[in-house]
Amino acid sequence: MQTSVDTATIRIQGGQRLAGRVSVSGAKNAALPVMAAALLTDEECLLENVPALEDIFVMADLLRWLGADVEFDQENGRVRICAANIHRREAPQELVERMRASFLVTGPLLARFGDVHSTTPGGCKLGSRPVDVDVRGLHRMGAKVEQGENGYHLSASRLYGNDIYMDYPSHTGTENLLMAATLARGNTRIINAASEPEIVSLGSILMDMGARISGVGTPHISVQGVDRLRGYRAAILPDRLEAGAFAIAAVITGGEVVLERVSEPDMLPLTHKIREAGGEVWWSEHEMMVRGNGPLKPTDIQALPFPGFPTDLQAPFAVLMTQAHGQSRIYERVFNDRLRYVAELQTMGANIELIDKQQAVIYGPSKLVGADVRALDIRSGACLVLAGLVAEGETRVREIQHLRRGHEDIVGKLASIGAQIDYLPAES
Ligand code: EPU
Repeated sequence: MQTSVDTATIRIQGGQRLAGRVSVSGAKNAALPVMAAALLTDEECLLENVPALEDIFVMADLLRWLGADVEFDQENGRVRICAANIHRREAPQELVERMRASFLVTGPLLARFGDVHSTTPGGCKLGSRPVDVDVRGLHRMGAKVEQGENGYHLSASRLYGNDIYMDYPSHTGTENLLMAATLARGNTRIINAASEPEIVSLGSILMDMGARISGVGTPHISVQGVDRLRGYRAAILPDRLEAGAFAIAAVITGGEVVLERVSEPDMLPLTHKIREAGGEVWWSEHEMMVRGNGPLKPTDIQALPFPGFPTDLQAPFAVLMTQAHGQSRIYERVFNDRLRYVAELQTMGANIELIDKQQAVIYGPSKLVGADVRALDIRSGACLVLAGLVAEGETRVREIQHLRRGHEDIVGKLASIGAQIDYLPAES
């Protein structure tokens, strides 16, 4: 007889040292824009190493709704997309409000079909998350913008290249404008562009499709528009955020973990801080070895656009800070409300002073104790799971639908390296 489990709650018995190997999944934030890029061509597109995550399912549903043919072989991580028969130019509210990245279809649809309607996107609640950078950039390329209660309607018989200065180096904003510019007439320069590894990977796949791009990965991107693009065959890059969460888990449990399939330059902002805190990191090809060794030292972090410390690892790193001997400080400079998880960590015994919505001081080391806590978004969910690994007794992390959006099989992977973690049996 099968035991029934409540897959909405993760249960962790803290105190285990992690040791072993973890295969890092493909990056959700790299897969989402590349899936949207399939809308730029009528040819077949094939993707490998795609993680089976809720956000990927939402993007697949959105593409299907628009008229694309999408097959997701989850077992092998392969996605096939053909956008030859797009019959809608409208991203529906029920999908867009579940995930901000659904706004990524706007640039490609407008560039290829001259017309798109999208409701204002939702996603994790991390503070204000406008899309004005995207909309203003598309307007600079000649799009007529109508904003109503139900979102944006953008139209242009053809986009024209132009200079676009981004007020803020928005991650998905850069991706949206980059995709739109590939089919615009003439040259587009995106200035103050974001340079995250996921954007570099998108740029390289767009170039395989025939786009003419230079400067991707720097704040100055230049795109010479072409009339049409080919299909692509590509593999999604490893998830630096998943790898980062496991690296922190290794350090705080005094463990030793090998992360398979990781890109060294993408991890630098984190490995630099892990070393500063007293953890050990070394590399062999695409494998990253992380070891927690002795007492941890306090550190300060500032979450910034890449290559600054990733905002997505700010909450997981806070757990490491609770175990360090001394005073650490967090300054979140990307989102204006991404410290909400602090209250949950305080419930577990963390000694954290919240200076304001973007700054916190952590006094360590604290003896964390198991508690009933809530995952408030993807990365704070990972933070609480990590806290559970070092807490005394049992931690229950509820509302893990957020974790399912961004961390593939976190329970199975942590259990495979020694964590006592499972889903809570139903009715307990
Ligand atoms: N911003 C503006 N105007 C805009 C767009 C953004 O002011 O038009 C501001 C936002 O208010 C925010 C900051 O810029 O304060 C950062 O937003 P950005 O647009 O760069 O982030 P995003 O594109 O919405 C992506 C990732 C996030 C990640 C951030 C930062 C995807 C699908 N999402 O979001 O990932 O935290 O970049 O690197 O790539 C996650 O995976 O859990 C996640 C939230």
